[in-house]
Amino acid sequence: MPVPTIEWIGGVDGKIKIIDQTLLPNELKYVYCEDRESIFHAIKTLMVRGAPAIGIAGAMGTVVSMKDCKADDYESFYRELKEATAYLGSSRPTAVNLFWGLKRMEATAQENSQKPVSEIKEILLNEAITILEEDKKICRKIGENGEAFLKEGSCVITHCNAGGLATGDFGTALAVMFAAADKGKKISVYADETRPLLQGSRLTAWELKNAGIDITLICDNMAAHTMKRKKVDCVIVGADRIAANGDAANKIGTYSLSIIAKEHNVPFYVAAPVSTFDMTIASGEEIPIEERGPDEVTTISGNKIAPDDIKVFNPAFDVTPASNIKAIITEMGVIHNPDMEKVKSVIGNNS
Ligand code: MRU
Repeated sequence: MPVPTIEWIGGVDGKIKIIDQTLLPNELKYVYCEDRESIFHAIKTLMVRGAPAIGIAGAMGTVVSMKDCKADDYESFYRELKEATAYLGSSRPTAVNLFWGLKRMEATAQENSQKPVSEIKEILLNEAITILEEDKKICRKIGENGEAFLKEGSCVITHCNAGGLATGDFGTALAVMFAAADKGKKISVYADETRPLLQGSRLTAWELKNAGIDITLICDNMAAHTMKRKKVDCVIVGADRIAANGDAANKIGTYSLSIIAKEHNVPFYVAAPVSTFDMTIASGEEIPIEERGPDEVTTISGNKIAPDDIKVFNPAFDVTPASNIKAIITEMGVIHNPDMEKVKSVIGNNS
């Protein structure tokens, strides 16, 4: 059972408790976010990370942002709420779950506009907790829907971290592995280390090792050789935003992994909740890709690994075309050989 990555502590005046994922696996430290600035900082610096987890953080962040709001009429309250959601939404641009969570909080306030502000604050807290609880169920369902792709003895490559740490619990890509293991299947996993921030080596390796799953760490540039020389049955990764045609943005390096998988006839699966689909964009071309600072590339654990003032390009995500994806595993079912029509037929209007 993964450790809870995000929780709400207390009542409407309470706080968000998160694991500081930047310190794992060396230290399991909890951080408490009591205002909008601290949760913004936690999302931006990847203390809390992974698309579904930042959706939950955005929803809970809306509650901490509004708890001290002095407005006693709905219009003023909603104006402040919109400022808060715009601010939280400016923390990271790619994972659509963040915007999905923030919009859901705005819609909840609007639906309850006739009620006193004190009551709306309580309703918003309940909504944020509901989003967390729903996510836990969604992760289990993704695991259930995907575990048949793994047989006794299957070997998987995964990239970044799409585990319990990236969600309410259990994960998306890792949910498939956890669910297969729970069914008694002996599987093995290669985790790409995932430069520059090492979510694969720091987080995925930690989670799978804790779960007793056979895990081997490789550097990102070892995936092709591993597929050529070892028995690799499939790739399973998560996603941060999936366009209407099935193109999927995920951690930088996922696209190259999909090309390597295609070259070696290894099926490539994406596991993601319906909240990761952005049906307002037709293709992956339109997905905004976060670019982060140069230090993540020029240093490792604070140690300089490049000359001073070197030019750096540091995109945090890339887009895998739907044509490289064998199936997308969601809580509503599996989308085989995804395209716009098949995406619509499985998720309908639910994103
Ligand atoms: O920059 P990160 O660590 O937030 O990137 C996370 C990923 O790319 C995950 O694979 C994705 O969010 C899926 S999490 C279930």
